Amino acid sequence: MITRRSVVKGFLSAGIGIPTAGVLASCATGQQLPGQAFVGTQKPLVVPDILTGEMRNGVRSFDLGLQRGVSNFFDGVDTPTLGINGAYLGPTLRIRVGETVQMNVANNIGQSSTLHWHGFHLPARADGGPHQVIRQGQTWSPQFTVKQRASMFWYHSHMVPRTGPQVYQGLAGLIYVEDERSGNLGLAQEYGIDDVPIVLQDRRFGSDGRFEYGTLMHDRMLGMKGDTLLVNGTVNPHFVAKTDTLRLRFLNGSNSRMYKLGFSDRRSFYQISSDGGLLASPVEMISITLGPAERADIIVDLSDGRPVMLKSSTPSFGGMMGGGMMGGGMMGGGMMGGGMMGGGQTNFDVLDIRPDEGRKRAIVQSGTLENLEFPDPTIAVKTRKFTLGMGMMMGGGEMTINGRSMDMNRVDETVRIGTKEVWIIENPTMIPHPFHIHDVQFRILDRNGSPPLPGETGLKDTVVVPPRERVRLLLQFADYADPDRPYMYHCHNLEHEDAGMMGQFTVVS
Ligand code: C2O
Ligand code: CU
Ligand code: CU
Repeated sequence: MITRRSVVKGFLSAGIGIPTAGVLASCATGQQLPGQAFVGTQKPLVVPDILTGEMRNGVRSFDLGLQRGVSNFFDGVDTPTLGINGAYLGPTLRIRVGETVQMNVANNIGQSSTLHWHGFHLPARADGGPHQVIRQGQTWSPQFTVKQRASMFWYHSHMVPRTGPQVYQGLAGLIYVEDERSGNLGLAQEYGIDDVPIVLQDRRFGSDGRFEYGTLMHDRMLGMKGDTLLVNGTVNPHFVAKTDTLRLRFLNGSNSRMYKLGFSDRRSFYQISSDGGLLASPVEMISITLGPAERADIIVDLSDGRPVMLKSSTPSFGGMMGGGMMGGGMMGGGMMGGGMMGGGQTNFDVLDIRPDEGRKRAIVQSGTLENLEFPDPTIAVKTRKFTLGMGMMMGGGEMTINGRSMDMNRVDETVRIGTKEVWIIENPTMIPHPFHIHDVQFRILDRNGSPPLPGETGLKDTVVVPPRERVRLLLQFADYADPDRPYMYHCHNLEHEDAGMMGQFTVVS
């Protein structure tokens, strides 16, 4: 354990005290120039404040301010950042199914932005997508009714074409949606104690302490990747567990990196939810892979009292999910994983979990979590196909869906309210893409004709589509029609999104 308080910059400060190999390995990479890596001491995990808002005329209201700030991810190092009601990231908003909420979003970052409620089923005018721009100095106040299952959602900037840099600098936060039924299942739900949000974000720091963004060609082609992992904005965090059962709610809040998460002793854990709600029943596993914007809750048992490290590595998609050919062979695997071309370090220590001496006993957890309808594609009235494309030109390419880049003035698809559709997402490119659709929680029917993994059989709003794969989704469009305001569908690799891998659809009556 490193107890030294001073900040050691790069490899050249060995005189002050050489960091242990473990710490060095988790903060720096061989590709890095001296002076570009900071070494941080271990810190307690930061848990974002949780807000319940204020009831005003029966409406739960939140006042959210987009602002500039300075963060100290490393002691004594100032990093200019963006945040919501704070210097970096935003508070967790706690809301309940069935109530009406109002978000008062004031923008004071000196440039236009938006705030999108990712995963929410709501009217297009309240979505916070690229058409709901909030100019510097203005306040946007959408209202919507919470029509979700209980789960963890999030909010983030969706400003075309600067979503990537704005989210990277910190414009994101969490939303806990709760309801009575899920609250009575006996699941851990003491926020920050046994129910702990884990926002994963990789960042690259310049020698001046600033975030580095988009400086390499790979950053634009493959998406921005960093060599330092921030967990809720904490570098090298540890967490003292006061209970035998710990519920971790993961959000991959990174611009483009995928994480394969598991524990240092390979202990198994249970996944209990996916993006938009609880799974039918807990799924036991030893690792879980999350693409950008995906969420999952897991339950891990700490009753043996032993400290354990939550770790992450880079998933490989060559053949793992039936991708085959392009994976390991031709491209050498490195490109797929992002190791070789994605820039640096791909294994991270995520969270050092230390079970406390006087822990509370484990909570008994029920076997059935949620009643999920069987996803029946025969009731779909229409099938649409979306083919992802990357122009492989030198210096960065054009990112497309069905051969076209995003155009704010073009509505690509029009769907009828009250219907179900099958959407096929096809990925002929050589890297995986996390595909996201606004307004709906969908179900995954199959991947290249094979059933989805057990952990992705529940409600989803983002699906990772590996190279050479064809994923079929079942969607339902309900409640809100608006012929004039579109929703988005896009790759949630934010650099791909900003480069045009996005389209628009309207729901009409
Ligand atoms: Cu997470 Cu279109 O957004
Ligand atoms: Cu979204
Ligand atoms: Cu993409």
